[in-house]
Amino acid sequence: MNKNILVTGGLGYIGSHTCVELISAGYTPIILDDLSNCKESVHARIQTITQKNNIPFVRGDVCNRNLLDNIFSEYKPLAVMHFAGSKAVGESIQKPLLYYRNNLETTLSLLETMQNYNVKSFIFSSSATVYGEDNTPPLVEDMKTGSVTNPYGRTKYMIEEILKDLHIAEKDWSITILRYFNPVGADASAMIGEDPNGVPNNLMPYIAKVASGELSELKIFGNDYNTADGTGIRDYIHVTDLAKGHVAALEKKGEESGLHIYNLGTGNGLSVMEVLKSYQETSGVTIPYIITGRRDGDLAASYACADKARQELGWSAKKNIHDMTLDSWNWIKSGNS
Ligand code: WQD
Repeated sequence: MNKNILVTGGLGYIGSHTCVELISAGYTPIILDDLSNCKESVHARIQTITQKNNIPFVRGDVCNRNLLDNIFSEYKPLAVMHFAGSKAVGESIQKPLLYYRNNLETTLSLLETMQNYNVKSFIFSSSATVYGEDNTPPLVEDMKTGSVTNPYGRTKYMIEEILKDLHIAEKDWSITILRYFNPVGADASAMIGEDPNGVPNNLMPYIAKVASGELSELKIFGNDYNTADGTGIRDYIHVTDLAKGHVAALEKKGEESGLHIYNLGTGNGLSVMEVLKSYQETSGVTIPYIITGRRDGDLAASYACADKARQELGWSAKKNIHDMTLDSWNWIKSGNS
């Protein structure tokens, strides 16, 4: 029986870890990736981790309609998981047109092709950033979204609105929106992990490069927030927990028509200093840092209410910050990045 799942961006950070969990759950990911922000070697590593060969990989752009037609004709996917997209907040402020074109056009191309091939199960990689700055954590799925402070976040918000309108127009779709908090860490094998091009924007990959000696010191963006130690609080979630959340969503809601929205977070907020302390403990490396001014657009605190995914998907995050920093450090030490 066909258990093909089309995974766009399937060689990227979240996508690759989700492919590992899909295979472990008995599915066959059909990986589509343009390799704009990842390496083709991740494909072989997914197969090595899972001991499954012949996992289809198609190099290409999700906007290429002919390519999508060929993929849907050949593989007849049961569902689509859509990870492909541009995701750097800072870059989106510099290049808004690129972000609107890429993130919106890929999604619309995909949804129209799904319509044409009567594939009506869609899982979308969204982000807690859609909660914007007007909501007070713990963040709950039915809170008002949209007060977003950057083009990247606005593309996620706009796509959620597109999906809500599609649900209203075509009730037979199963549409699941997964709002990620802060994905960190790496597969326990240390064969895949976060491998951003250039200098990382996000906290943990930046700390990792300081720990490895590639960068000299961490800049902590402000310690004057209204938090216990003055530094920003976020809900860090191990990427493997996040990946398992996608499989849970597919299995519990993938065949249930309707619009399903879930936070994928731990429900636990940690400060920059707490993350730094954990990284020092697991790596055994002292991380030099300086305190600088706040980063534009940053919130003091953002963390999930994780109840709905636990109640409806039977999923919750299992790994703690020690696991996250240890797996991140093992990935950096592995030399596989
Ligand atoms: C975390 C904390 C910073 C870097 C971003 C995106 C969001 C999502 C996750 C995709 C904050 C502080 C960071 C550094 C620091 N991505 N920090 N020095 O901003 O919560 O969310 O990534 O969906 O959309 O906005 O994550 O890791 O950048 O920052 O002090 O060099 O670490 O101020 O408090 P963020 P982050």
